[in-house]
Amino acid sequence: MLKKYCTEKAALIDHKLSELVGVSQPISSIITEAMRYSLLGGGKRLRPILLMAAADAVGKKGEAFFHVACGLEMIHTYSLIHDDLPAMDNDDYRRGKLTNHKVFGEAMAILAGDALLTAAFEVMLQQEHVDSKTLVQVVREISFAAGPQGMVGGQAIDLQSEGKTIDINTIMLMHQAKTGALFKAAIRSGALLADASDKELNLLTQYAEDFGLAFQITDDILDVIGTQEKIGKPIGSDMRNQKATYVSMYSLEGARKLAHESVERALAVLQDFGSEAEVLREMVRYLITRDS
Ligand code: IPE
Ligand code: IPE
Ligand code: MG
Ligand code: MG
Ligand code: MG
Repeated sequence: MLKKYCTEKAALIDHKLSELVGVSQPISSIITEAMRYSLLGGGKRLRPILLMAAADAVGKKGEAFFHVACGLEMIHTYSLIHDDLPAMDNDDYRRGKLTNHKVFGEAMAILAGDALLTAAFEVMLQQEHVDSKTLVQVVREISFAAGPQGMVGGQAIDLQSEGKTIDINTIMLMHQAKTGALFKAAIRSGALLADASDKELNLLTQYAEDFGLAFQITDDILDVIGTQEKIGKPIGSDMRNQKATYVSMYSLEGARKLAHESVERALAVLQDFGSEAEVLREMVRYLITRDS
């Protein structure tokens, strides 16, 4: 069920992204090419899929919200382009291909990231089937999650922590911000767009927090025990950059245990949901076994 759901939704997102970021007469063909290079033909599309699955879980058709879902994927892709830059993690491969700066040069990669971030808002504001008040709330939450209190703030802690031993609270905060915030925004957006009740929104928010935590812990684990072929990016990047990760602090076994605990908590909060939440259940279970 999960595989079919994810394949179908990812195909929809790929198709829409290609339409939305394929302007017919671009003012600069190179910037469009650089944006499309990183955006299309790779990526698990987890954030847009989670947005749709959260809407499905509260009884609306998640596919209707593809504009917001695509915007989230554009913001995520921008964060990856910048994360790979020499000034940040200095990685050469992403999504199974050379990183953006390796192909287009650093300056153009910075601009491709800027362009994806700003274009994302234009795309999200084209969302239909929602009243404007709700859309404003959703876009506001996504902006917050991407900014200094969310992804960018977490990336700053990540860079500042290189070569240092940090305490558990700081590493949790870093994970929640750099990775968790966008997952939380994706799931809450799906719920808000689908008119979730306060209770549903609350439970889905708790699910999202544990999903994000388990996701980044398993990302850290894959950096050690994954294969480049499967994850599409180099392994050992964290060690090379002396990153503070769950693995560096708690060993592989400790990190696995923490990931398991987050998954169990996420499953527990979904207990009151029916079969409509089955995709969300399967998605968080998949984190434990994922190899890409
Ligand atoms: C990788 O995210 C970056 C992190 C936030 C840890 P994904 O593993 O979702 O990357 P793609 O989108 O599938 O390439
Ligand atoms: C970065 O975390 C998360 C982002 C906000 C992009 P990582 O640096 O661990 O992501 P990967 O492993 O390069 O995908
Ligand atoms: Mg990084
Ligand atoms: Mg990185
Ligand atoms: Mg990583």
